[in-house]
Amino acid sequence: MRVLHFLVVVLSGLAAAQQQALMDYLERRLLAIEDRISLWHEQTSRYASELREFKQQMVAQLDGLDKNKEALRSELDAVGVRMDRVEREMDYLEAQNGAQPCVDVDDKLVEQQVTVAKERNKAKYSKLTDCSDMISSIKAMKILKRVGGSKGMWTKDMGSSSGKIYIFNGTGEDMLYEFGSVRDFTSSQGTSGGTRIQLPSSWGGMGHVVYNNHLYYVKDGEELRLMKFDLLKGLVADSAVFPAKDQLPVYSLNPETYIDLAADEEGLWAIYATKENEKHVLLAKVDPQTLAIEQMWDTPCPRENAEAAFVVCGTVYVVYNSRLPSRSRIQCVFDVSDMVTNDDAPIVYFPKRYGTHSSLKYSPLEQLLYAWDDGYQILYKLQMKKKLEV
Ligand SMILES: *[C@@H]1O[C@H](CO)[C@@H](O)[C@H](O)[C@H]1NC(C)=O
Repeated sequence: MRVLHFLVVVLSGLAAAQQQALMDYLERRLLAIEDRISLWHEQTSRYASELREFKQQMVAQLDGLDKNKEALRSELDAVGVRMDRVEREMDYLEAQNGAQPCVDVDDKLVEQQVTVAKERNKAKYSKLTDCSDMISSIKAMKILKRVGGSKGMWTKDMGSSSGKIYIFNGTGEDMLYEFGSVRDFTSSQGTSGGTRIQLPSSWGGMGHVVYNNHLYYVKDGEELRLMKFDLLKGLVADSAVFPAKDQLPVYSLNPETYIDLAADEEGLWAIYATKENEKHVLLAKVDPQTLAIEQMWDTPCPRENAEAAFVVCGTVYVVYNSRLPSRSRIQCVFDVSDMVTNDDAPIVYFPKRYGTHSSLKYSPLEQLLYAWDDGYQILYKLQMKKKLEV
């Protein structure tokens, strides 16, 4: 009995021990699970707070973007208002000053020149007897190159169809460059491809002209002496004192030029100024053979703010600008045949360029202007109309 009792006790003790072990085991598992749960919990709450932070940052950034967008929009609005105002001002100016030239850059200009020159040659004779063209607008421009300093002159031989190009860099030099054609000039490095021509005396200003293989220029110095230089022989062919007293610079914006020589369909002209009529530009017809002055005219065109002038079919066109360079414009004309008056000539605007023109030379065979603007060599193609059609 005692043994049985003992066994029961042992067995129950064993069962109890087994139970305890089971309990311990379950408790350990539960603790482990609890640990993991709390770890998950911790991690999720960390993720959650990170997510919250991130969201806050995003919201703040979006706010900032919104503000930037707002600022940008109001800036754009302000620019728009300003553009409107500028446009209105332009319209007003246009209405005040007549139509502006419709200018496009013509890439074919140089290529066309040769054929144009050939065609015009045929028409030259009738032109001489019936020269009645006037400028209506500037049709195209082409910037060819930049050689040389701010002031100078470039030109074709205006009296022949040789196509030769001459470069006069500066306002008081004695060496010029000759090129066989515009293409030779544009394709050469600087002036390296040109032939140097040495003159016996320096030129003054930018008023020279090349006409039928002769260079006509005003000699630099006290006395205004016209020189005629034979470019083929390299010799002075003739010279004469210009028969005007007390001469003044003819254009207030280019004071280096006293006499501006010009060629047109009818021959050679001199544009100049004297103290006697100091406010206005004067015009004279020059005999290219003898350098004699055939006739002189007073023009109504002021010297003040003039930068250059040229003659087309017996009409002198004076180009004005301002001391702070703005857009050059033909604002005064004088026709020796009295067919064009200032009232019926439209104001012709040049496209905006770098500065002011130091010279503008008209080529009657091509109806082009050879312009020097702050060292740039530019061609302007003129649109013509008949004088009587105005
Ligand atoms: C043109 O003249 C300017 C000064 O007026 C000078 O600096 C420049 O070297 C000259 N250029 C050429 C090609 O002769």
